[in-house]
This record gives sequence, structure tokens and C-alpha cells, in this order.
Amino acid sequence: MEEKKVIFSGIQPTGTFTLGNYLGAVKNWGPLQEQYNCIYCVVDLHAITVRQDPAKLRQNTLNSYALLMACGIDVEKSVLFIQSHAPTHPMLSWVLSCCTQFGELSRMTQFKDKSQRHPDDVNAGLFTYPVLMAADILAYNADLVPVGIDQKQHLELARNIAQRFNQRYGDYFTVPDAYISEVGAKIMSLQEPTKKMSKSDENPNACILILDDKDTIIRKFKRAVTDSEAEVCCREGKDGINNLMTIYSIFTGRSFDEITSDFAGKGYGDFKLAVGEAVADGLEPVRTEFARLVQDKAYLKKCYTEGAEKALKISSRITSKVYHKVGFVDNR
Ligand code: TRP
Repeated sequence: MEEKKVIFSGIQPTGTFTLGNYLGAVKNWGPLQEQYNCIYCVVDLHAITVRQDPAKLRQNTLNSYALLMACGIDVEKSVLFIQSHAPTHPMLSWVLSCCTQFGELSRMTQFKDKSQRHPDDVNAGLFTYPVLMAADILAYNADLVPVGIDQKQHLELARNIAQRFNQRYGDYFTVPDAYISEVGAKIMSLQEPTKKMSKSDENPNACILILDDKDTIIRKFKRAVTDSEAEVCCREGKDGINNLMTIYSIFTGRSFDEITSDFAGKGYGDFKLAVGEAVADGLEPVRTEFARLVQDKAYLKKCYTEGAEKALKISSRITSKVYHKVGFVDNR
């Protein structure tokens, strides 16, 4: 029997996901569990590259963990863990950083953006962030990495690092491929639909959080920016409507043509309400399951402890091999 391929992905511990994170990534992670060996990680080590309040970071990490479970990641089928519980990642990261050029890291657009946004804290961790991300992936010899478009450059770097290591020390790492799912849609801001939906948007109406309650979700959709026509159809220039149609289509399974005929002759108000209701109802099970999980601290702890054990088992073996290959004295 052919071995299942390994999928690895990490998600930032923001505590809640936007509708964009959900539809573009997390929602698609559940179904992958049947076909692949999936390893998912809440990346708290990455999070401290920007200043964090310690108590909030801890809370957000736990909430993110519970939320991933609520979104359909099954701890029996997948490895789900917290990054800081696996010291193998920073151990491997050091070796990989010695296979990474200063120039390569300087070209990372996310580094350039973030250092412009936080000019008072351009720390070394922010700079080497992509190396740690490469270590996350390579510590499991992952074949596939589901990432959004904004992480493609980092994944490309991880591939280059893997190839360079393989050239220097003999083939060892699997060179990971991006896993771009056909359904993983890019969701835009509800207020400025040419921009990606982002939690950091100053306008709270721009972004749906998946733990928003029904009324909030509907209110935000009612205020969504559209255009001055009154036709629900997908066309260039109708960014707001195109975005709402994408969202509605994912939640209802209706095609764009069907949506257009469903709403023929109706105003945008009706359409926005329908989108809001579809989203709120679609997210209801996630909210309910999340509320249940965060109550049950002992169970959560059991899950992330076991997750860390499984992650360590795989990544320790790979990290030891790497340490041997680069010429460190074996310690076993
Ligand atoms: N850098 C990713 C992000 O900001 C998160 C991440 C960390 C990740 N390690 C990873 C994603 C490994 C995929 C694989 O979204």
C-alpha cells in the first residue's frame, strides 16, 4: 500500500479566525485528513516576532487550538499541536539558518512590510521567521503545505533551503510543494473589496470573525460596500458583489449563474441579508463546538499534550538525522 503523503500547515494564534482564514484555509483542512497524514500547528513561536501581551498570547493560543478542533480537525486523525511544545523546530531552524543567505531573507516581502509597520522593533526573529517556518515543514518531511498566496514566497524559500541542504549533505529532505486547493477562495474586505479581508483592518465592519454572533454577522454584511448598479452578477469591477457571491456560493453550494437568477429583480439589500444568514447559520456549529471545548480545559490539555507527543516523535527522529548529517556528535 502506498504511504499517505504528509501535509503540514501552521496557523497564527490570533484566537479567532477571519472568514477569510476559514474559507481560504482552515475549512479545507478537515477533509484533507482522510487522504493525508495531516500535521497542524498553532505557531506561537512565530507570533512573538511582533510584540505580544503574554497572558493574551497564552489565551489566544489555546483558543486557536480549540477553534481548529471546532472547525473539524480531529485529533485522532491528525497531529494537532502547539509549536512551542516542540523544541525540535528551533533546533532544526538553527541548522537551516546556516543554509540560508542574508540576501534571501532580505528579499522577503513580508519582512519588508512588517519592518515598515514596526520600525521600532525590527528584531532578528522577524528576519529569520521564514527559516523557522521552513523548519516547521521540514521537521516532518512534509510533501504538501496548504498556504495562502501571501505565504508562497516563504514556501519557495523553504524549498530552496531543503534543496541546498540536500546538495550539501546528501538527499534527505522532501522538497515540499504548495497545496493550493481549488476551493480555497480568497475573501476580500467587506469595506474595501479590492483588499484582502484582514483582522487588523481598522474598520471592524470590514472583517467577519468566525466567532461573531449571528446579529453581528448580519449587520456587517448589511453594511458591505457594493456598487451603484443593482444587479447580482459576477463581473469585472463589481468587486464587492463578486466577493459576496463567492462567500454565498461556498456556504450554499449555489453556482454564480444560479445566484444571479435567484436574485434577478431583487435589490442588494435582499442579497446581503441572504449572505449574512447563510454565513451565520453555516458558522453556528463551529461557534457551538468552540464554546463547548473551551469549557473543557482538561480535555483540551489532554489533546494538546498528546499532539505534542506525536509531533515530537516524528520531528525528533528527523532532527537527530539532520544533526548527524551535519557532523554533530551523536548523543544517544
Ligand atoms: N507563516 C504562516 C502565516 O503567517 C504560518 C506558518 C508558520 C506556517 N509555519 C508554517 C504555514 C508552516 C505553513 C507551514 O500564515
